[in-house]
Amino acid sequence: MHKGLTSAVILAQCFGITALTLICVWIIKLSGGIGWDGGEKQFNVHPVTMVLGLVFLYGEGLLVYRTFRGYSKKWIKLLHAFSLFGALLSATVGITAIFQLHNETGEPNLHSVHSWLGLTTYILFGLQFVAGFVCFLLPTPQSIKKVVLPFHQFFGGAILLLVAATCASGIMEKLSEETWGKKVFLGNTAALMIVAFAITVLFIVRWSPWKRPSEDDTGHLLSSNDVSAN
Ligand code: HEM
Repeated sequence: MHKGLTSAVILAQCFGITALTLICVWIIKLSGGIGWDGGEKQFNVHPVTMVLGLVFLYGEGLLVYRTFRGYSKKWIKLLHAFSLFGALLSATVGITAIFQLHNETGEPNLHSVHSWLGLTTYILFGLQFVAGFVCFLLPTPQSIKKVVLPFHQFFGGAILLLVAATCASGIMEKLSEETWGKKVFLGNTAALMIVAFAITVLFIVRWSPWKRPSEDDTGHLLSSNDVSAN
């Protein structure tokens, strides 16, 4: 691997794994666990699946282009798509859990800054997923792929920042009535770790010396010119 890249990837993994672990300890161990019970357990599904999907799996999906630099672009793309599909599934479970819970308990939907940011993030992620699938996995004309690629790269990074802001605001909201203690400590640290993970992942994917030799990403899975890399 390129000089410095290994250390940066290890650092990112430490931030990501710590964030996910802290959320799981806070929510599963200290807040009653997860379940689909129309109550607190169902709420708990939301933070766990959102962080697993849109923080961890999404971040890993962005990193694969740097961590597997030596492999064929075709397989890395597939790994990228699988990871993002996992992120989409997990996030969809999390969004369904919270909306269904609010509808059942009669709590109003979309009242907070967190919920507005969250819905925007989820919709953008969904659109990016569909656009990426159509443009880069299906045999779309090269000219269209070339136009879409810079937007795909820009929004890929922007969505990760939105995810960090959304998680921080959600954690803040959940902890707003808590007094200082284990839960607040774990939640605050998890928020910090999510932000650190997002920044490290963005640095790794944007830092030009670590980019793959060519920015040309216009091949698709069925084409023979798919060994181009970035
Ligand atoms: C990127 C990740 C996340 C997204 C996209 C997201 C999205 C959403 C959305 C759309 C709602 C509104 C549901 C409704 O109005 O019925 C919501 C509610 C909520 N979320 Fe998240 N969320 C995320 C992560 C988190 C995390 C990590 C926590 C931490 C505990 C959290 C805590 C909450 C809370 C307390 C509510 C209920 C209050 C409210 O509607 O603001 N969320 N979330």
